[in-house]
Amino acid sequence: MSDAGDRFQRETKYDPARMPGHTLDWQAKPEVYKEYPEADKIELPGFEPTQALSLEQTLKQRKSIRDFQGKPISKSQLAYLLWASTGIQRVEGGYEFRTAPSAGALYPIETYLVVNDVKGLEPGIYHYSIRAHQLERLRLGNFGRQTAAAALGQGMCATACVVFIWSAVFERCKWKYGQRAYRYIYLDAGHIAENLALAATSLNRGTCEIGALYDDQANAIIGVDGIEESVICMAVVGIPV
Ligand SMILES: Cc1cc2nc3c(=O)[nH]c(=O)nc-3n(C[C@H](O)[C@H](O)[C@H](O)COP(=O)(O)O)c2cc1C
Repeated sequence: MSDAGDRFQRETKYDPARMPGHTLDWQAKPEVYKEYPEADKIELPGFEPTQALSLEQTLKQRKSIRDFQGKPISKSQLAYLLWASTGIQRVEGGYEFRTAPSAGALYPIETYLVVNDVKGLEPGIYHYSIRAHQLERLRLGNFGRQTAAAALGQGMCATACVVFIWSAVFERCKWKYGQRAYRYIYLDAGHIAENLALAATSLNRGTCEIGALYDDQANAIIGVDGIEESVICMAVVGIPV
């Protein structure tokens, strides 16, 4: 590998003597929601955890889970996990804000699912429509093994109930922050992943984040180009053994 990371860290530093002085082009502000208008829509049921763990218990209990019982999670639990990781939580001043913070409220991260075993949902690839709190069905089929192969052979992608795949639409954040945006994009994805981990733990479900992946194989699974939009990381969710 080149020294691209070292150069990136150096060249994207903020320095009081050399601050970028550009003005924002509001006409060119990218849309913060991606939608698949042609896709079949699946309504997500409401879900209020009745016996969720407290935050303190959740923090004590969260750990990476890689082995799962071969039992499905429910669609309502999945709905809760989607909302808890990146759903809309309030509207202020006409802006929709989400459960996880985002630099400049630019929300560059998209959520896709590889559904292996969720009650009431056919296996396949889905996109989470955040604004509508719906799933958009992109492709039906069993993609667990392909996802495991894209994750350097990590079999948990095939044995989990569902794999969350998070991609970034880079321009949403670059519009304001230029190359420094990449710092914030990775942080944004981390916040979402941790929200998912805590929400899942609070329901006695297990997660493991996955950063080891063949980028373009993961991009192919969700059908993104790896340039304008590219996979950042993934997480498996299932019922711990
Ligand atoms: C960015 C990131 C990438 C990770 N990638 C993987 C991975 O590809 N495979 C894996 O088994 N665990 C992965 N993990 C999980 C870590 O190995 C785990 O969080 C760490 O060992 C600490 O253990 P704990 O989560 O149980 O506290 C990743 C965690 C993070 C935050």
